[in-house]
Amino acid sequence: MEPLTIAIGADHGGVELKRILAAALSAQGHRVADCGTDGHTSVDYPDFAAPVVAEVKAGRARFGVLVCGSGIGMAIAANRHPGIRAAVLHNATEGRLARAHNDANIACFGGRTMGAEVALDALAAFLATPFEGGRHARRIAKLDAP
Ligand code: RB5
Repeated sequence: MEPLTIAIGADHGGVELKRILAAALSAQGHRVADCGTDGHTSVDYPDFAAPVVAEVKAGRARFGVLVCGSGIGMAIAANRHPGIRAAVLHNATEGRLARAHNDANIACFGGRTMGAEVALDALAAFLATPFEGGRHARRIAKLDAP
């Protein structure tokens, strides 16, 4: 796979899984733009979704990865931004379908709800899968329609 730039962010509930995912992405040759947080001090997930969203929307990152305790808060925060399609992934099938059918551009994970190996498999499937287009392009066009 061609090297990509991937922006990654987490709150305190996702910092450990973020570290594991970021290390794996770097080892695979991708450039990782780490938007924090880096410690266990309690922070607010929208504050760390925002910079990842900004990187993706500006085109500086091809994809984003967001991790909080459940992945849910990060997905809610990211999906408030037009042009962002963030999906909470629990397995490789969801990683594949989020790309193939939804053209998702941010993958969200729960640092307290899933193991690292499963998250790594889901992220690998997400990155390896192209958008199918066709009828799915018509559907995602409606998401940001005025
Ligand atoms: C933080 O305690 C937790 O609420 C957050 O990480 C996330 O799970 C929210 O969706």
